[in-house]
Amino acid sequence: MNRNLRKQNFISSFDFDKRLAPYDIAGALAHVKMLSKCRIISDGDAKKIIKGLGAIADDLKRGKSLPSAEDVHYAVEKELIKRIGVVGGKMHAARSRNDQVATDLKLYLKDEIKNIVSSLLSVQRAILKVARNNIDAIMPGYTHLKQAQPILFSHHMMAYFQMFERDIKRFKNCYDNLDESPLGSAALAGTSFPIDRGISAKLMGFARVSENSIDSVSDRDFATEFIASAAILMLHTSRLAEDLIIWSSDEFDFVKIAAQFTSGSSIMPQKRNPDFLEIIRGKTGRIYGNLTSILTILKGLPLSYNRDLQEAQIPLFDTADTLKDVLAVLSEIISSLKLNHEKMEEAFKNDYILATEVADYLTKKGLPFRTAHGITKKIVEHAIKNKKNLSELKLSEYKKFSGYFKSDIHNRLNIKNVIESKKSLGGTSRLSVGKQIAKAKT
Ligand code: ARG
Repeated sequence: MNRNLRKQNFISSFDFDKRLAPYDIAGALAHVKMLSKCRIISDGDAKKIIKGLGAIADDLKRGKSLPSAEDVHYAVEKELIKRIGVVGGKMHAARSRNDQVATDLKLYLKDEIKNIVSSLLSVQRAILKVARNNIDAIMPGYTHLKQAQPILFSHHMMAYFQMFERDIKRFKNCYDNLDESPLGSAALAGTSFPIDRGISAKLMGFARVSENSIDSVSDRDFATEFIASAAILMLHTSRLAEDLIIWSSDEFDFVKIAAQFTSGSSIMPQKRNPDFLEIIRGKTGRIYGNLTSILTILKGLPLSYNRDLQEAQIPLFDTADTLKDVLAVLSEIISSLKLNHEKMEEAFKNDYILATEVADYLTKKGLPFRTAHGITKKIVEHAIKNKKNLSELKLSEYKKFSGYFKSDIHNRLNIKNVIESKKSLGGTSRLSVGKQIAKAKT
């Protein structure tokens, strides 16, 4: 490779931006139609260009590739001129690669956001299914990874449903924010041609046109917002992956990950490792890196366009590709999850997880909760010392700690009853979780 060629490669984006070709052509078609409507180019020339662009788009769909060029915008133009002659060069009046690339990226992201939202809906459907099919499965709920209070497994899974619900909102908001056409901003200053930006915007399906041409060619907020939304989404997938990894450990054994989402060890024949979930957790770091990358590329750039902006495409594309893979794998992992209800119940090694119920009991009898908490702490210490469950302590023992205890205390010391008593909105009773599921289904 000679030195000149290497220099060309250094600034070329074609290897990664060629995926924008369908959007570049869609933008060019809208632009040319607008140019002819506004009498900036003749109808005859416009027809030739439109036909040529259409043929290129069809060939791309059939798997043909564009000629190599510095970037996708030059490649499309080069191919068009090769096919229809110099008249192809007329399509670049009143536009620049600067508004062109911003337009292409927005069109690309609109499609990707639709794909991602639909993948998120699949993940949510998988969660709903596993929650509904195991609505009665009980398990310890944890804080600090210590047994805290008993809960329904379905309640825990529905927590993730809510996180993904917020992700969907974030992506939809990102879509609405970016839904304005930069095309016609030209290099930065607008143009002296009598264009109508509304026409091309409408043809491309944008909701609005952008208001300031300098902002339009400098702005990559939309890409940053997309990656930021992706980073938060990955935070959620990573936490879910971590929960599933813990639950599938030999110690917990609450769930079995389907064999196709695990892999064997090269040395220890008995092992099936949760590699797919670990890769999801690992890729989260990569998306955070992409967010740091784009923020750092953008900071300190003087207005308006600078070539640095080209580098921002790399983390953007990587983020969209990674998200789609992660969500596809995740929804299959959830769908194929096998639960071990017995292990979940066996995880309650004793009933100290019901201590809060004892404190609540005393509070309902009239004691201030703080006092009740102090008394219950002593009762638990007494139970531990005597190697007994709370439900095994006699009423006479309870009475030694407080006169408020009556014979109904033992009814309260049953894990399933306790779960059923948490009927508050959003709580863990079957009734409350059932309501969450019913609402989620709509
Ligand atoms: N490939 C370039 C990019 O992605 C296109 C815009 C080039 N503009 C320029 N003034 N050199 O940013």
